[in-house]
Amino acid sequence: MGATVIDGKAFAARVRAQVAGHVAGLAAQGIVPGLAVVLVGEDPASQVYVRSKGKMTAEVGMAGFERRLPAETSEAELLAVIAALNADPAVHGILVQLPLPAHLNADLAINAIDPAKDVDGFHISNVGLLGTGQKAMVPCTPLGSLMLLRDHLGDLSGLEAVVVGRSNIVGKPMAQLLLAQNCTVTIAHSRTKDLAAVCRRADVLVAAVGRPGMIKGDWIKPGATVIDVGINRIDAGDGKTRLVGDVDYAAAAEVAGAITPVPGGVGPMTIACLLANTLTACCRIHGLPEPEGLTV
Ligand code: GUN
Repeated sequence: MGATVIDGKAFAARVRAQVAGHVAGLAAQGIVPGLAVVLVGEDPASQVYVRSKGKMTAEVGMAGFERRLPAETSEAELLAVIAALNADPAVHGILVQLPLPAHLNADLAINAIDPAKDVDGFHISNVGLLGTGQKAMVPCTPLGSLMLLRDHLGDLSGLEAVVVGRSNIVGKPMAQLLLAQNCTVTIAHSRTKDLAAVCRRADVLVAAVGRPGMIKGDWIKPGATVIDVGINRIDAGDGKTRLVGDVDYAAAAEVAGAITPVPGGVGPMTIACLLANTLTACCRIHGLPEPEGLTV
Protein backbone atom coordinates (compact mmCIF):
# COMPACT_ATOMS: atom_id res chain seq x y z
CA MET A 1 0.00 0.00 0.00
CA GLY A 2 2.21 2.83 -1.30
CA ALA A 3 -0.28 5.58 -2.05
CA THR A 4 -0.77 8.69 0.06
CA VAL A 5 -4.35 8.67 1.38
CA ILE A 6 -6.01 12.01 0.64
CA ASP A 7 -8.01 12.87 3.76
CA GLY A 8 -11.17 14.52 2.43
CA LYS A 9 -12.83 14.38 5.83
CA ALA A 10 -10.13 16.54 7.43
CA PHE A 11 -9.98 18.88 4.42
CA ALA A 12 -13.77 19.31 4.47
CA ALA A 13 -13.65 20.18 8.18
CA ARG A 14 -11.12 22.93 7.36
CA VAL A 15 -13.35 24.27 4.57
CA ARG A 16 -16.35 24.32 6.93
CA ALA A 17 -14.30 26.12 9.59
CA GLN A 18 -13.26 28.71 7.00
CA VAL A 19 -16.90 29.15 5.93
CA ALA A 20 -17.98 29.49 9.58
CA GLY A 21 -15.38 32.24 10.09
CA HIS A 22 -16.74 34.22 7.13
CA VAL A 23 -20.33 33.66 8.28
CA ALA A 24 -19.42 35.11 11.69
CA GLY A 25 -17.95 38.15 9.90
CA LEU A 26 -21.17 38.63 7.91
CA ALA A 27 -23.26 38.36 11.09
CA ALA A 28 -21.50 41.48 12.36
CA GLN A 29 -22.97 43.26 9.31
CA GLY A 30 -26.43 41.82 10.00
CA ILE A 31 -26.25 39.29 7.12
CA VAL A 32 -27.04 35.60 7.65
CA PRO A 33 -26.48 33.36 4.61
CA GLY A 34 -29.51 31.12 4.08
CA LEU A 35 -29.69 27.74 2.33
CA ALA A 36 -33.02 26.23 1.27
CA VAL A 37 -33.31 22.53 0.46
CA VAL A 38 -36.36 21.24 -1.39
CA LEU A 39 -37.10 17.54 -0.95
CA VAL A 40 -39.96 15.93 -2.86
CA GLY A 41 -41.06 12.47 -1.76
CA GLU A 42 -39.58 9.90 0.59
CA ASP A 43 -36.40 8.63 -1.13
CA PRO A 44 -34.45 7.23 1.88
CA ALA A 45 -30.97 8.20 0.64
CA SER A 46 -32.20 11.74 -0.12
CA GLN A 47 -33.65 12.03 3.39
CA VAL A 48 -30.27 11.11 4.89
CA TYR A 49 -28.49 13.71 2.71
CA VAL A 50 -31.02 16.42 3.53
CA ARG A 51 -30.77 15.79 7.28
CA SER A 52 -26.99 15.95 7.08
CA LYS A 53 -27.11 19.18 5.03
CA GLY A 54 -29.46 20.76 7.61
CA LYS A 55 -27.13 19.85 10.49
CA MET A 56 -23.99 21.21 8.79
CA THR A 57 -25.79 24.40 7.71
CA ALA A 58 -26.60 25.16 11.35
CA GLU A 59 -23.06 24.26 12.46
CA VAL A 60 -21.47 26.95 10.27
CA GLY A 61 -24.00 29.53 11.50
CA MET A 62 -26.16 29.72 8.38
CA ALA A 63 -29.95 29.72 8.29
CA GLY A 64 -31.45 26.50 6.94
CA PHE A 65 -34.84 26.26 5.25
CA GLU A 66 -36.38 22.89 4.42
CA ARG A 67 -39.33 22.47 2.09
CA ARG A 68 -40.51 18.85 2.31
CA LEU A 69 -43.17 18.14 -0.28
CA PRO A 70 -45.24 14.98 -0.75
CA ALA A 71 -44.29 12.56 -3.54
CA GLU A 72 -47.48 13.47 -5.45
CA THR A 73 -46.58 17.19 -5.62
CA SER A 74 -47.45 18.61 -9.04
CA GLU A 75 -45.04 20.43 -11.33
CA ALA A 76 -46.93 23.70 -10.77
CA GLU A 77 -46.72 23.28 -6.98
CA LEU A 78 -42.97 22.59 -7.11
CA LEU A 79 -42.37 25.58 -9.40
CA ALA A 80 -44.39 27.78 -7.02
CA VAL A 81 -42.20 26.71 -4.08
CA ILE A 82 -39.06 27.50 -6.10
CA ALA A 83 -40.47 30.90 -7.16
CA ALA A 84 -41.19 31.77 -3.51
CA LEU A 85 -37.61 30.86 -2.52
CA ASN A 86 -36.22 32.89 -5.45
CA ALA A 87 -38.12 35.91 -4.11
CA ASP A 88 -37.15 35.39 -0.44
CA PRO A 89 -34.27 37.74 0.54
CA ALA A 90 -33.34 35.47 3.48
CA VAL A 91 -32.51 32.66 1.02
CA HIS A 92 -29.17 32.86 -0.85
CA GLY A 93 -28.89 29.24 -1.94
CA ILE A 94 -31.56 26.86 -3.29
CA LEU A 95 -31.03 23.14 -3.80
CA VAL A 96 -33.68 20.84 -5.22
CA GLN A 97 -32.68 17.37 -4.05
CA LEU A 98 -32.37 14.85 -6.89
CA PRO A 99 -33.70 12.44 -7.95
CA LEU A 100 -37.21 13.87 -8.20
CA PRO A 101 -40.21 11.52 -8.47
CA ALA A 102 -40.60 10.28 -12.05
CA HIS A 103 -43.58 12.51 -12.93
CA LEU A 104 -41.54 15.69 -12.29
CA ASN A 105 -39.14 17.16 -14.85
CA ALA A 106 -35.81 17.81 -13.09
CA ASP A 107 -34.49 20.12 -15.85
CA LEU A 108 -37.58 22.31 -15.57
CA ALA A 109 -37.23 22.56 -11.79
CA ILE A 110 -33.48 23.29 -11.87
CA ASN A 111 -33.84 25.93 -14.56
CA ALA A 112 -36.58 27.63 -12.53
CA ILE A 113 -34.03 28.39 -9.77
CA ASP A 114 -32.57 31.92 -9.83
CA PRO A 115 -29.05 31.23 -11.27
CA ALA A 116 -27.55 33.51 -8.58
CA LYS A 117 -29.01 31.16 -5.92
CA ASP A 118 -28.22 27.93 -7.80
CA VAL A 119 -25.70 26.55 -5.29
CA ASP A 120 -25.67 23.16 -7.08
CA GLY A 121 -24.45 24.87 -10.28
CA PHE A 122 -26.89 22.82 -12.35
CA HIS A 123 -28.83 25.69 -14.00
CA ILE A 124 -28.08 26.00 -17.73
CA SER A 125 -26.74 29.54 -17.16
CA ASN A 126 -24.16 28.28 -14.69
CA VAL A 127 -23.30 25.31 -16.92
CA GLY A 128 -22.70 27.76 -19.79
CA LEU A 129 -20.69 30.16 -17.63
CA LEU A 130 -18.45 27.34 -16.40
CA GLY A 131 -17.98 26.01 -19.93
CA THR A 132 -16.92 29.42 -21.23
CA GLY A 133 -14.55 30.18 -18.34
CA GLN A 134 -16.78 32.81 -16.74
CA LYS A 135 -17.64 33.25 -13.08
CA ALA A 136 -20.25 30.61 -12.24
CA MET A 137 -21.72 28.64 -9.40
CA VAL A 138 -19.66 25.44 -9.64
CA PRO A 139 -21.20 22.01 -8.89
CA CYS A 140 -20.17 20.91 -5.39
CA THR A 141 -18.70 17.43 -5.96
CA PRO A 142 -16.42 18.48 -8.84
CA LEU A 143 -15.44 21.64 -6.92
CA GLY A 144 -14.53 19.55 -3.86
CA SER A 145 -12.60 17.08 -6.02
CA LEU A 146 -10.64 19.93 -7.61
CA MET A 147 -9.82 21.42 -4.19
CA LEU A 148 -8.36 18.06 -3.10
CA LEU A 149 -6.36 17.74 -6.33
CA ARG A 150 -4.93 21.26 -6.09
CA ASP A 151 -4.09 20.80 -2.44
CA HIS A 152 -2.21 17.59 -3.22
CA LEU A 153 -0.60 18.39 -6.58
CA GLY A 154 -0.47 22.19 -6.74
CA ASP A 155 -0.37 23.28 -10.39
CA LEU A 156 -2.22 20.82 -12.65
CA SER A 157 -1.00 22.37 -15.94
CA GLY A 158 -0.15 19.88 -18.66
CA LEU A 159 -1.28 16.80 -16.75
CA GLU A 160 -3.24 14.04 -18.49
CA ALA A 161 -6.62 13.88 -16.77
CA VAL A 162 -9.15 11.13 -17.42
CA VAL A 163 -12.69 11.50 -16.07
CA VAL A 164 -14.64 8.26 -16.13
CA GLY A 165 -18.35 9.15 -16.21
CA ARG A 166 -20.25 11.77 -18.18
CA SER A 167 -23.03 12.87 -15.83
CA ASN A 168 -24.19 16.48 -15.72
CA ILE A 169 -23.63 16.48 -11.94
CA VAL A 170 -20.03 15.24 -11.86
CA GLY A 171 -18.34 14.02 -15.06
CA LYS A 172 -18.99 16.94 -17.42
CA PRO A 173 -18.35 19.79 -14.93
CA MET A 174 -15.27 17.97 -13.58
CA ALA A 175 -13.86 17.83 -17.11
CA GLN A 176 -14.52 21.58 -17.54
CA LEU A 177 -12.75 22.39 -14.29
CA LEU A 178 -9.72 20.27 -15.22
CA LEU A 179 -9.61 21.88 -18.67
CA ALA A 180 -9.64 25.32 -17.03
CA GLN A 181 -6.63 24.13 -14.97
CA ASN A 182 -4.80 23.40 -18.25
CA CYS A 183 -5.05 19.62 -18.03
CA THR A 184 -5.35 17.52 -21.19
CA VAL A 185 -8.77 16.05 -20.54
CA THR A 186 -10.45 12.85 -21.71
CA ILE A 187 -14.01 11.98 -20.74
CA ALA A 188 -14.46 8.22 -20.79
CA HIS A 189 -17.68 6.28 -20.22
CA SER A 190 -19.39 2.92 -20.49
CA ARG A 191 -19.03 2.83 -24.29
CA THR A 192 -15.35 3.82 -24.33
CA LYS A 193 -13.22 1.28 -26.20
CA ASP A 194 -10.42 -0.19 -24.09
CA LEU A 195 -11.27 1.81 -21.00
CA ALA A 196 -8.34 0.23 -19.15
CA ALA A 197 -5.85 1.64 -21.67
CA VAL A 198 -7.45 5.10 -21.53
CA CYS A 199 -7.28 5.08 -17.71
CA ARG A 200 -3.61 4.03 -17.81
CA ARG A 201 -2.76 7.34 -19.55
CA ALA A 202 -4.04 9.37 -16.61
CA ASP A 203 -1.83 11.37 -14.27
CA VAL A 204 -5.15 12.38 -12.68
CA LEU A 205 -7.93 9.79 -12.75
CA VAL A 206 -11.42 10.78 -11.60
CA ALA A 207 -13.87 7.89 -11.25
CA ALA A 208 -17.54 8.89 -11.28
CA VAL A 209 -19.49 5.98 -12.72
CA GLY A 210 -21.46 4.61 -9.77
CA ARG A 211 -20.23 1.03 -10.19
CA PRO A 212 -18.54 -0.54 -7.18
CA GLY A 213 -14.86 -1.38 -7.73
CA MET A 214 -15.07 -1.03 -11.51
CA ILE A 215 -11.66 0.67 -11.90
CA LYS A 216 -9.02 -2.03 -11.37
CA GLY A 217 -5.55 -1.64 -9.91
CA ASP A 218 -3.79 -2.45 -13.18
CA TRP A 219 -5.76 0.34 -14.96
CA ILE A 220 -3.81 2.91 -12.95
CA LYS A 221 -0.58 4.54 -14.05
CA PRO A 222 2.07 4.17 -11.34
CA GLY A 223 2.16 7.34 -9.25
CA ALA A 224 -1.18 8.70 -10.55
CA THR A 225 -3.54 10.69 -8.33
CA VAL A 226 -6.90 8.92 -8.08
CA ILE A 227 -10.10 10.71 -7.07
CA ASP A 228 -12.88 8.23 -6.34
CA VAL A 229 -16.26 9.97 -6.49
CA GLY A 230 -18.27 6.74 -6.22
CA ILE A 231 -20.41 6.09 -3.15
CA ASN A 232 -21.87 2.60 -3.57
CA ARG A 233 -23.59 0.67 -0.80
CA ILE A 234 -22.85 -3.05 -1.16
CA ASP A 235 -23.71 -6.19 0.76
CA ALA A 236 -20.84 -6.84 3.20
CA GLY A 237 -21.82 -10.52 3.45
CA ASP A 238 -22.60 -10.50 7.20
CA GLY A 239 -26.11 -9.13 6.91
CA LYS A 240 -24.67 -5.61 6.90
CA THR A 241 -23.82 -3.21 4.12
CA ARG A 242 -20.74 -1.08 3.55
CA LEU A 243 -19.77 1.85 1.34
CA VAL A 244 -17.26 1.38 -1.46
CA GLY A 245 -16.11 3.59 -4.30
CA ASP A 246 -15.85 3.05 -8.04
CA VAL A 247 -12.17 2.08 -7.66
CA ASP A 248 -10.83 -1.24 -6.40
CA TYR A 249 -9.20 0.59 -3.50
CA ALA A 250 -6.79 -2.03 -2.12
CA ALA A 251 -5.32 -2.83 -5.54
CA ALA A 252 -5.25 0.83 -6.65
CA ALA A 253 -3.49 1.94 -3.47
CA GLU A 254 -0.58 -0.36 -4.40
CA VAL A 255 -0.01 1.52 -7.66
CA ALA A 256 -1.29 5.09 -7.27
CA GLY A 257 0.72 7.97 -5.87
CA ALA A 258 -2.31 9.23 -3.97
CA ILE A 259 -5.93 8.17 -3.63
CA THR A 260 -9.12 9.31 -1.94
CA PRO A 261 -10.77 6.68 0.30
CA VAL A 262 -14.48 5.86 0.44
CA PRO A 263 -15.85 6.87 2.85
CA GLY A 264 -13.84 9.90 3.96
CA GLY A 265 -12.63 11.19 0.59
CA VAL A 266 -14.75 13.20 -1.82
CA GLY A 267 -18.05 12.62 0.04
CA PRO A 268 -17.49 15.10 2.90
CA MET A 269 -16.22 17.68 0.40
CA THR A 270 -19.60 17.84 -1.36
CA ILE A 271 -21.47 19.30 1.62
CA ALA A 272 -18.51 21.53 2.56
CA CYS A 273 -18.59 22.96 -0.97
CA LEU A 274 -22.36 23.40 -0.83
CA LEU A 275 -21.85 25.60 2.23
CA ALA A 276 -18.97 27.40 0.50
CA ASN A 277 -21.19 28.01 -2.54
CA THR A 278 -23.97 29.36 -0.32
CA LEU A 279 -21.50 31.79 1.25
CA THR A 280 -20.21 32.79 -2.20
CA ALA A 281 -23.78 33.31 -3.47
CA CYS A 282 -24.62 35.41 -0.40
CA CYS A 283 -21.55 37.63 -0.91
CA ARG A 284 -22.32 38.08 -4.65
CA ILE A 285 -25.99 38.90 -3.97
CA HIS A 286 -24.98 41.52 -1.37
CA GLY A 287 -22.19 42.93 -3.58
CA LEU A 288 -19.54 42.00 -1.00
CA PRO A 289 -16.04 40.69 -1.77
CA GLU A 290 -16.00 36.93 -2.18
CA PRO A 291 -14.06 34.83 0.29
CA GLU A 292 -10.82 33.56 -1.22
CA GLY A 293 -10.00 29.91 -1.79
CA LEU A 294 -13.59 28.69 -1.59
CA THR A 295 -14.41 28.69 -5.28
CA VAL A 296 -12.64 28.78 -8.65
N1 GUN B 1 -28.56 14.02 -5.35
C1 GUN B 1 -27.35 13.41 -5.29
N2 GUN B 1 -26.35 14.30 -5.37
C2 GUN B 1 -26.94 15.51 -5.48
C3 GUN B 1 -26.41 16.84 -5.59
O1 GUN B 1 -25.21 17.09 -5.60
N3 GUN B 1 -27.35 17.81 -5.67
C4 GUN B 1 -28.68 17.56 -5.66
N4 GUN B 1 -29.50 18.58 -5.78
N5 GUN B 1 -29.19 16.36 -5.57
C5 GUN B 1 -28.31 15.34 -5.48
